[in-house]
Amino acid sequence: MIQSNEFAGKIVLVTGASQGIGLEICRQFSDLGATVISVARNKEKLETAKNTIKNNSNVYTYPCDLSVESEIEKLFHEIKEKFQNVDILVNNLGAYSDKVEWNAIDYDLWIKTFETNVLSAYFCMVKAAEIMVENKTKGVIINIGSSSALQVKKGRLHYTVTKSSLHTLSRVAAMDLAKHQIRVNVVSPGPTATEIVQKRMQDAEQRAQEEARLKKIPLGRYASTVDIANAVVFLSSSMGEFITGAILPVDGGYTIGETV
Ligand SMILES: NC(=O)c1ccc[n+]([C@@H]2O[C@H](COP(=O)([O-])OP(=O)(O)OC[C@H]3O[C@@H](n4cnc5c(N)ncnc54)[C@H](OP(=O)(O)O)[C@@H]3O)[C@@H](O)[C@H]2O)c1
Repeated sequence: MIQSNEFAGKIVLVTGASQGIGLEICRQFSDLGATVISVARNKEKLETAKNTIKNNSNVYTYPCDLSVESEIEKLFHEIKEKFQNVDILVNNLGAYSDKVEWNAIDYDLWIKTFETNVLSAYFCMVKAAEIMVENKTKGVIINIGSSSALQVKKGRLHYTVTKSSLHTLSRVAAMDLAKHQIRVNVVSPGPTATEIVQKRMQDAEQRAQEEARLKKIPLGRYASTVDIANAVVFLSSSMGEFITGAILPVDGGYTIGETV
Protein backbone atom coordinates (compact mmCIF):
# COMPACT_ATOMS: atom_id res chain seq x y z
CA MET A 1 0.00 0.00 0.00
CA ILE A 2 1.12 3.57 -0.60
CA GLN A 3 1.99 4.95 2.83
CA SER A 4 0.06 8.11 3.61
CA ASN A 5 3.21 10.10 4.33
CA GLU A 6 5.74 8.45 2.05
CA PHE A 7 6.17 11.48 -0.20
CA ALA A 8 6.41 13.97 2.64
CA GLY A 9 9.77 15.70 2.44
CA LYS A 10 10.58 14.21 -0.96
CA ILE A 11 11.89 16.54 -3.63
CA VAL A 12 10.05 15.96 -6.91
CA LEU A 13 11.09 17.72 -10.11
CA VAL A 14 8.52 17.82 -12.93
CA THR A 15 9.33 19.18 -16.39
CA GLY A 16 6.80 20.68 -18.79
CA ALA A 17 4.77 21.45 -15.72
CA SER A 18 2.71 24.55 -16.48
CA GLN A 19 -0.25 22.75 -18.05
CA GLY A 20 -1.74 19.41 -19.00
CA ILE A 21 -0.24 16.21 -17.67
CA GLY A 22 2.74 17.91 -16.01
CA LEU A 23 0.54 20.22 -13.99
CA GLU A 24 -1.60 17.31 -12.75
CA ILE A 25 1.54 15.40 -11.73
CA CYS A 26 2.63 18.46 -9.70
CA ARG A 27 -0.82 18.66 -8.12
CA GLN A 28 -0.83 15.03 -7.01
CA PHE A 29 2.67 15.08 -5.54
CA SER A 30 1.95 18.35 -3.82
CA ASP A 31 -1.26 16.94 -2.33
CA LEU A 32 0.80 14.00 -1.07
CA GLY A 33 3.12 16.34 0.83
CA ALA A 34 6.12 16.42 -1.50
CA THR A 35 8.18 19.48 -2.31
CA VAL A 36 7.55 20.05 -6.00
CA ILE A 37 9.85 21.84 -8.44
CA SER A 38 7.86 22.74 -11.53
CA VAL A 39 9.74 23.66 -14.68
CA ALA A 40 8.65 25.17 -18.01
CA ARG A 41 9.78 28.13 -20.10
CA ASN A 42 7.17 30.76 -19.34
CA LYS A 43 7.34 32.11 -15.77
CA GLU A 44 3.87 33.67 -15.80
CA LYS A 45 2.26 30.45 -17.01
CA LEU A 46 4.10 28.53 -14.30
CA GLU A 47 2.84 30.90 -11.61
CA THR A 48 -0.73 30.77 -12.94
CA ALA A 49 -0.53 26.97 -12.95
CA LYS A 50 0.86 26.93 -9.42
CA ASN A 51 -2.12 29.00 -8.29
CA THR A 52 -4.50 26.29 -9.49
CA ILE A 53 -2.91 23.86 -7.01
CA LYS A 54 -4.67 23.98 -3.65
CA ASN A 55 -1.74 22.84 -1.54
CA ASN A 56 0.90 24.93 -3.25
CA SER A 57 3.07 26.20 -0.43
CA ASN A 58 5.63 23.51 -1.30
CA VAL A 59 5.58 24.18 -5.05
CA TYR A 60 8.55 26.08 -6.48
CA THR A 61 8.54 27.34 -10.06
CA TYR A 62 11.67 27.44 -12.19
CA PRO A 63 11.48 28.93 -15.70
CA CYS A 64 13.96 27.14 -17.95
CA ASP A 65 14.22 26.17 -21.62
CA LEU A 66 15.06 22.48 -21.26
CA SER A 67 16.02 22.13 -24.90
CA VAL A 68 19.20 24.07 -24.06
CA GLU A 69 21.89 22.12 -22.20
CA SER A 70 23.43 25.18 -20.52
CA GLU A 71 20.01 26.10 -19.09
CA ILE A 72 19.68 22.59 -17.66
CA GLU A 73 23.13 22.96 -16.04
CA LYS A 74 22.05 26.23 -14.44
CA LEU A 75 18.72 24.79 -13.30
CA PHE A 76 20.31 21.84 -11.51
CA HIS A 77 22.97 24.05 -9.98
CA GLU A 78 20.22 26.22 -8.45
CA ILE A 79 18.20 23.19 -7.34
CA LYS A 80 21.20 21.64 -5.64
CA GLU A 81 21.94 24.87 -3.83
CA LYS A 82 18.37 25.28 -2.59
CA PHE A 83 17.12 21.72 -2.04
CA GLN A 84 20.37 19.65 -1.89
CA ASN A 85 18.59 16.61 -3.32
CA VAL A 86 16.23 15.27 -5.98
CA ASP A 87 14.25 12.14 -5.02
CA ILE A 88 11.99 11.89 -8.05
CA LEU A 89 12.46 13.28 -11.55
CA VAL A 90 9.52 13.26 -13.94
CA ASN A 91 10.62 14.05 -17.49
CA ASN A 92 7.19 15.01 -18.75
CA LEU A 93 8.28 17.55 -21.35
CA GLY A 94 7.50 16.50 -24.88
CA ALA A 95 6.83 18.40 -28.07
CA TYR A 96 3.62 17.36 -29.72
CA SER A 97 3.67 17.88 -33.45
CA ASP A 98 1.05 18.21 -36.13
CA LYS A 99 1.22 15.81 -39.04
CA VAL A 100 4.15 16.20 -41.41
CA GLU A 101 4.66 13.96 -44.44
CA TRP A 102 7.47 11.47 -43.89
CA ASN A 103 9.67 13.13 -46.55
CA ALA A 104 8.97 16.72 -45.49
CA ILE A 105 10.61 16.79 -42.05
CA ASP A 106 13.35 19.36 -42.35
CA TYR A 107 16.61 19.32 -40.44
CA ASP A 108 15.51 22.02 -38.00
CA LEU A 109 12.35 20.14 -37.04
CA TRP A 110 14.36 16.95 -36.48
CA ILE A 111 16.83 18.77 -34.23
CA LYS A 112 14.12 20.65 -32.32
CA THR A 113 12.13 17.46 -31.73
CA PHE A 114 15.18 15.53 -30.55
CA GLU A 115 16.24 18.37 -28.26
CA THR A 116 12.81 18.59 -26.68
CA ASN A 117 11.78 14.94 -26.52
CA VAL A 118 15.06 13.12 -25.95
CA LEU A 119 18.02 15.34 -25.08
CA SER A 120 16.15 17.34 -22.43
CA ALA A 121 15.21 14.10 -20.68
CA TYR A 122 18.73 12.70 -21.04
CA PHE A 123 20.50 15.72 -19.57
CA CYS A 124 17.94 16.14 -16.77
CA MET A 125 18.32 12.44 -15.99
CA VAL A 126 22.12 12.65 -15.84
CA LYS A 127 22.03 15.72 -13.60
CA ALA A 128 19.38 14.28 -11.29
CA ALA A 129 21.13 10.90 -11.11
CA GLU A 130 24.43 12.58 -10.16
CA ILE A 131 22.70 14.25 -7.21
CA MET A 132 20.91 11.01 -6.24
CA VAL A 133 24.17 9.01 -6.33
CA GLU A 134 26.03 11.66 -4.36
CA ASN A 135 23.31 11.57 -1.67
CA LYS A 136 22.87 7.76 -1.86
CA THR A 137 19.21 8.41 -2.63
CA LYS A 138 17.19 5.49 -3.95
CA GLY A 139 15.74 7.79 -6.56
CA VAL A 140 13.07 7.38 -9.17
CA ILE A 141 13.04 8.67 -12.73
CA ILE A 142 9.84 8.55 -14.74
CA ASN A 143 9.92 9.48 -18.40
CA ILE A 144 6.64 10.28 -20.12
CA GLY A 145 6.64 8.44 -23.42
CA SER A 146 3.81 7.97 -25.86
CA SER A 147 1.52 5.37 -27.39
CA SER A 148 2.98 6.58 -30.70
CA ALA A 149 6.14 4.69 -29.80
CA LEU A 150 4.19 1.47 -29.18
CA GLN A 151 1.85 1.61 -32.14
CA VAL A 152 3.29 3.39 -35.13
CA LYS A 153 1.05 5.86 -36.94
CA LYS A 154 1.41 7.58 -40.26
CA GLY A 155 2.30 11.24 -40.34
CA ARG A 156 4.36 11.83 -37.22
CA LEU A 157 7.61 10.08 -37.99
CA HIS A 158 9.81 12.52 -36.05
CA TYR A 159 7.54 12.40 -32.97
CA THR A 160 7.37 8.60 -33.10
CA VAL A 161 11.11 8.16 -33.56
CA THR A 162 11.96 10.53 -30.70
CA LYS A 163 9.44 8.98 -28.32
CA SER A 164 10.75 5.49 -29.23
CA SER A 165 14.22 6.79 -28.43
CA LEU A 166 12.99 7.99 -25.06
CA HIS A 167 11.50 4.57 -24.33
CA THR A 168 14.78 2.87 -25.20
CA LEU A 169 16.86 5.47 -23.38
CA SER A 170 14.82 4.73 -20.26
CA ARG A 171 15.38 0.99 -20.45
CA VAL A 172 19.13 1.40 -20.94
CA ALA A 173 19.32 3.94 -18.12
CA ALA A 174 17.38 1.56 -15.88
CA MET A 175 20.19 -0.98 -16.36
CA ASP A 176 22.95 1.54 -15.78
CA LEU A 177 21.40 3.07 -12.67
CA ALA A 178 20.17 -0.14 -11.00
CA LYS A 179 23.49 -0.54 -9.16
CA HIS A 180 22.67 2.72 -7.39
CA GLN A 181 19.12 1.53 -6.60
CA ILE A 182 17.76 4.23 -8.89
CA ARG A 183 14.71 3.08 -10.85
CA VAL A 184 13.83 4.34 -14.32
CA ASN A 185 10.44 3.70 -15.89
CA VAL A 186 8.24 5.01 -18.67
CA VAL A 187 4.61 5.99 -18.42
CA SER A 188 3.24 5.88 -21.94
CA PRO A 189 0.02 7.85 -22.35
CA GLY A 190 -2.44 7.27 -25.12
CA PRO A 191 -4.66 10.11 -26.33
CA THR A 192 -5.19 12.30 -23.29
CA ALA A 193 -7.76 15.02 -22.77
CA THR A 194 -5.34 17.93 -22.47
CA GLU A 195 -5.51 21.48 -23.81
CA ILE A 196 -4.00 20.37 -27.12
CA VAL A 197 -6.77 17.88 -27.76
CA GLN A 198 -9.40 20.42 -26.74
CA LYS A 199 -7.87 22.91 -29.19
CA ARG A 200 -7.90 20.33 -31.98
CA MET A 201 -11.61 19.78 -31.34
CA GLN A 202 -12.25 23.36 -32.50
CA ASP A 203 -11.01 22.62 -36.02
CA ALA A 204 -13.34 20.50 -38.18
CA GLU A 205 -10.64 18.37 -39.82
CA GLN A 206 -8.74 17.81 -36.59
CA ARG A 207 -11.98 17.04 -34.73
CA ALA A 208 -12.74 14.31 -37.27
CA GLN A 209 -9.29 12.82 -36.63
CA GLU A 210 -9.85 12.94 -32.86
CA GLU A 211 -13.28 11.32 -33.16
CA ALA A 212 -11.82 8.53 -35.28
CA ARG A 213 -9.14 8.03 -32.64
CA LEU A 214 -11.70 7.82 -29.87
CA LYS A 215 -13.31 4.84 -31.62
CA LYS A 216 -9.99 3.02 -31.39
CA ILE A 217 -9.77 3.21 -27.60
CA PRO A 218 -11.25 -0.05 -26.22
CA LEU A 219 -12.21 1.52 -22.88
CA GLY A 220 -14.13 4.15 -24.83
CA ARG A 221 -12.67 7.42 -23.60
CA TYR A 222 -9.54 9.53 -23.64
CA ALA A 223 -7.16 9.30 -20.71
CA SER A 224 -7.53 12.09 -18.21
CA THR A 225 -4.46 13.86 -16.88
CA VAL A 226 -5.37 12.24 -13.54
CA ASP A 227 -5.06 8.75 -15.10
CA ILE A 228 -1.52 9.55 -16.21
CA ALA A 229 -0.50 11.20 -12.94
CA ASN A 230 -1.90 8.20 -10.99
CA ALA A 231 0.49 5.91 -12.87
CA VAL A 232 3.43 8.23 -12.22
CA VAL A 233 2.68 8.31 -8.48
CA PHE A 234 2.25 4.53 -8.37
CA LEU A 235 5.59 3.86 -10.07
CA SER A 236 7.29 6.44 -7.84
CA SER A 237 5.87 4.94 -4.66
CA SER A 238 6.96 2.01 -2.52
CA MET A 239 4.34 -0.05 -4.38
CA GLY A 240 6.57 0.19 -7.45
CA GLU A 241 9.83 -0.44 -5.63
CA PHE A 242 10.74 -3.57 -7.63
CA ILE A 243 9.75 -2.13 -11.01
CA THR A 244 12.44 -0.73 -13.26
CA GLY A 245 12.92 -0.57 -17.01
CA ALA A 246 9.16 -0.91 -17.53
CA ILE A 247 7.02 0.81 -20.11
CA LEU A 248 3.54 1.20 -18.70
CA PRO A 249 0.86 2.07 -21.25
CA VAL A 250 -1.92 4.20 -19.75
CA ASP A 251 -4.15 4.30 -22.78
CA GLY A 252 -7.43 2.44 -22.21
CA GLY A 253 -6.16 -0.39 -24.42
CA TYR A 254 -5.35 1.85 -27.39
CA THR A 255 -2.10 0.03 -28.13
CA ILE A 256 -3.40 -3.53 -27.64
CA GLY A 257 -4.25 -3.75 -31.32
CA GLU A 258 -7.01 -3.10 -33.82
CA THR A 259 -10.49 -2.79 -32.30
CA VAL A 260 -12.28 -4.17 -35.39
N1 LIG B 1 -1.68 14.96 -24.56
C1 LIG B 1 -1.64 13.77 -25.12
O1 LIG B 1 -2.63 13.28 -25.71
C2 LIG B 1 -0.40 12.94 -25.03
C3 LIG B 1 -0.38 11.63 -25.57
C4 LIG B 1 0.77 10.86 -25.48
C5 LIG B 1 1.89 11.38 -24.87
N2 LIG B 1 1.86 12.65 -24.35
C6 LIG B 1 3.08 13.15 -23.72
O2 LIG B 1 2.78 13.63 -22.42
C7 LIG B 1 3.63 14.71 -22.09
C8 LIG B 1 2.81 15.91 -21.65
O3 LIG B 1 1.90 16.22 -22.68
P1 LIG B 1 0.86 17.45 -22.56
O4 LIG B 1 -0.04 17.30 -23.72
O5 LIG B 1 0.34 17.50 -21.17
O6 LIG B 1 1.88 18.68 -22.79
P2 LIG B 1 1.55 20.17 -23.23
O7 LIG B 1 0.14 20.52 -22.86
O8 LIG B 1 2.01 20.38 -24.61
O9 LIG B 1 2.49 21.00 -22.25
C9 LIG B 1 3.83 21.16 -22.54
C10 LIG B 1 4.53 21.77 -21.33
O10 LIG B 1 5.92 21.79 -21.59
C11 LIG B 1 6.42 23.13 -21.47
N3 LIG B 1 7.50 23.25 -22.44
C12 LIG B 1 7.43 23.19 -23.79
N4 LIG B 1 8.65 23.32 -24.34
C13 LIG B 1 9.53 23.45 -23.30
C14 LIG B 1 10.94 23.60 -23.21
N5 LIG B 1 11.71 23.66 -24.30
N6 LIG B 1 11.51 23.70 -21.99
C15 LIG B 1 10.73 23.65 -20.86
N7 LIG B 1 9.39 23.49 -20.88
C16 LIG B 1 8.79 23.41 -22.10
C17 LIG B 1 5.21 24.02 -21.74
O11 LIG B 1 5.31 25.30 -21.13
P3 LIG B 1 6.13 26.52 -21.85
O12 LIG B 1 5.55 26.64 -23.23
O13 LIG B 1 5.89 27.71 -20.98
O14 LIG B 1 7.55 26.11 -21.85
C18 LIG B 1 4.11 23.20 -21.04
O15 LIG B 1 4.15 23.41 -19.65
C19 LIG B 1 4.49 14.97 -23.33
O16 LIG B 1 5.72 14.30 -23.19
C20 LIG B 1 3.67 14.34 -24.45
O17 LIG B 1 4.48 13.94 -25.53
C21 LIG B 1 0.75 13.43 -24.41
